[in-house]
Amino acid sequence: MPQHIIPHAGSAATTQRATHAEINLASFRHNLNLVRSALRPGVKTMAVVKADAYGHGALPCSKAALDAGADWLGVGILQEGLELRQHGIDAPVLVLGSVFPHEIDGLIRGGLSTILSDYRLAQALSRQAARAGKTVGVHIKVDTGMGRLGVLPEDFLCLVERVLERKNLRIEAVSTHFSSADEDDPEFTLSQLSRFNRALEQLRAAGVPVPLLHCANSSALIKFPQTWFDMVRPGLVLYGALPSPKLKPHLKNLAGGGELLPVMQWKSRIIQINRLPKGSCLSYGKNHVVSRDSLIATLPAGYADGLSRNLSGKMNVLIRGRKARQVGTICMDMCLIDVTDVPEAQVGDEAVILGRQGQEAISAEELAQQNGTVPYEILCAVSKRVPRVYLP
Ligand SMILES: Cc1ncc(COP(=O)(O)O)c(C=O)c1O
Repeated sequence: MPQHIIPHAGSAATTQRATHAEINLASFRHNLNLVRSALRPGVKTMAVVKADAYGHGALPCSKAALDAGADWLGVGILQEGLELRQHGIDAPVLVLGSVFPHEIDGLIRGGLSTILSDYRLAQALSRQAARAGKTVGVHIKVDTGMGRLGVLPEDFLCLVERVLERKNLRIEAVSTHFSSADEDDPEFTLSQLSRFNRALEQLRAAGVPVPLLHCANSSALIKFPQTWFDMVRPGLVLYGALPSPKLKPHLKNLAGGGELLPVMQWKSRIIQINRLPKGSCLSYGKNHVVSRDSLIATLPAGYADGLSRNLSGKMNVLIRGRKARQVGTICMDMCLIDVTDVPEAQVGDEAVILGRQGQEAISAEELAQQNGTVPYEILCAVSKRVPRVYLP
């Protein structure tokens, strides 16, 4: 589990580092409640907490998700599931990325379920489960167009029938994953959905009982209620961000007038302010030359903290409630901010990299757009050396 969990005692003075991330668990629960209250009765929720809960801390977020009524937790890799078990989480956990044969023992010992898409893994799982006197829960994944994990629809029924012959395997669910549900054009998602439905028809025609069905990530959940089936698998929306700005108009379907709340605020403090004459150059490569007499603030946050070097000169931070431009190359441990237009700024002032200060806010979506990436990567990139401070 993350070494970076620092109990919050109500004051930033309790953090080890000036650069830290505040994780608001009430906002996380709020987002989960928005999702759950929009669902048809009986539809379950798997909270996706892989990659250390998208950088927010898997253990506290998993506990908050379960407190708020999540039925399952989704992790990316075996180790993440085992860490939840080691910390006393006994809810159903699915390893979304499946397992290698050498991980089967851990999967069984942890009582975790896995995605399954090939028969060789099924055989190995079944053999080892029999040896341990256990059964393993498997979620058979159909590849309907992602081309990543999953059995092709034409091989699906055969796999199910062979898994059913294995007494030590328990088919808990059938699932798929959408590649493009955030896009304006619904065509590809609908074609994935019909491939999934055709696979299910094969089950029905063969008289095989249909287990739990789950497909919907955040985008599908927001935009395509027909993909909810028995359980949804939201990740990003629980952390208060949208996979794409194109989803904004559809948010009303989900939230019923409510609003997603960003869960992470990433903050730092000014460590030094330099008064530099016009023409001075800044940072490595001296590729920023100040065009006026300037006040340049130094923040102890750099790419080793997850602030991509690619954001150099493209992003802002909030200081004294105003957006101030980051200037010069972002270094490993530090970056520079032009505070010439915030002349009252002082050493020790809070600088918000991600989050709200006064009337202004910087979202993961904004940073993602500036960095040519997705909000997922911005959040996951906040590194382990940034202490997380949990607000209950
Ligand atoms: C298989 C699977 N299901 C669900 C999710 C959650 O997706 P999102 O964060 O877009 O809701 C992911 C994340 O990428 C995933 O890989």
